[in-house]
Formats: sequence, C-alpha cells, structure tokens
Amino acid sequence: MKDNSSKLRSRSHRVHFVGSFPGELPAAKLPEVAFAGRSNVGKSSAINTLLGQKGVARVSQTPGRTQAVNLFRVDEQLMFADLPGYGFAKVPQDVRQRWKPMIENYLGSRSELKMVVVLVDSRRTAQEMDQALIASLKEFGIRTLVVATKIDKLSKSKRRPILNKLASGLGVGRGDLVPFSSTKREGIGQVWRRIYAASGVDQ
Ligand code: GTP
Ligand code: MG
Repeated sequence: MKDNSSKLRSRSHRVHFVGSFPGELPAAKLPEVAFAGRSNVGKSSAINTLLGQKGVARVSQTPGRTQAVNLFRVDEQLMFADLPGYGFAKVPQDVRQRWKPMIENYLGSRSELKMVVVLVDSRRTAQEMDQALIASLKEFGIRTLVVATKIDKLSKSKRRPILNKLASGLGVGRGDLVPFSSTKREGIGQVWRRIYAASGVDQ
C-alpha cells in the first residue's frame, strides 16, 4: 500500500511551548491531541521525536517527573497535550485516586480533543491502568491510538506475535496500534498520519 508516511516522517515542525498547567487549562482554540501513558514509558521522548526536536518535552531518568499538563502549539495548526504519567508510586490505589479525576476532568472538558495517543511499553503485557484508560476513552467516545514504545528493544522476529497480543490485551484493533522507537526513529510517519486524520488538519 502506498502512503505518505516517509514524507511525514522527515517533516519539520514549528513548536511553541504554551505552558505547564497543574490546574485549569487555557481555552482550546485548535484541534488537540493528547499523549498519555505510564511513567517512564517514553512519552516525552516520543513527543520530541514526533516534533523533530531534542528538548521540547523533558526527558527524565526519574519516573513520574511530568506532573502537570504541558501544552504545545504545533505549526499554528494543532495542540499537543502531554498528560501526567501514571503508575509511578508504590501505592497504585493512591495514585489512581489522584490521577483518575484529573484525567477524567481533562477528557470530559476539552472541547477540541480529537484523539488520545496511549503509549505503552512494547516489552510489557497489557497493564491494568492502560486497559482502564482505554476503556474510559471508549466510554467518552474519544478516538484512541496505541503507540508501542521502545520497539527497538524487541527483535524483528518477536514483534508480530507480541504486538498482536498487546493489542488484544488492551482491547484495540491491531490497526490502532503503531510500533514506535524514539532511538531508531520508527513509526513517526504512521503516527503523524493518524494525528492528521483525526484532527482534520491539512497535511
Ligand atoms: P516520565 O515523564 O518520567 O513519566 O517519563 P516519560 O514517559 O516521559 O519517558 P521519557 O521519554 O523520559 O523516557 C524514559 C526513559 O526511556 C529514558 O531513559 C529514555 O532514554 C528511554 N527511552 C525513551 N524512548 C525510548 C526508545 O524508543 N527506545 C529506547 N531504547 N529507550 C527509550
Ligand atoms: Mg515525561
């Protein structure tokens, strides 16, 4: 199948950091795509890779560093929202209690939200909090794309069965899961294609 993924992969983007918002967010005026995932999954790296920038989203060695919603305006066409990572504390119940209302408030109130990109580690089986998030997105009727990060850590022969199992464990179709690597720059064009399609922005 012919597609324009390779063109999208190398496109450069103008990025403006709007701010870091622990509380109320500014009103949404552009189509918005949010990024969510367990802490340390590679979310900030993926955002940087997609935008072709080194340090737009902070990359940390310490899990759970990104605590607020970080908003970026991209190409004056759309917004990226980097949501706080989840699952980093030793008491998952406690984290869930704080994270869930915050995220549900975000999902329920962003009028321009077009898609949520849920990042999961391709080396792990489906995790409960990822499943719960994906189930809430379905409930809210929000389009969901799963990005399986750190795919460079899996040998080519292992990928297909692992990705199939991951998709079914998360309750999404295999076509809604894109294998991704920030270090090897894989999956960039495919993710952009989905972002453009969901946001209705001209490529
Ligand atoms: P928090 O904001 O702390 O929740 O983490 P995050 O999900 O934003 O992850 P981050 O991008 O900071 O990356 C976490 C670690 O994974 C870092 O050590 C990265 O260098 C590493 N990492 C991220 N993406 C990849 C990838 O595609 N391949 C490999 N091998 N490592 C990666
Ligand atoms: Mg981060």
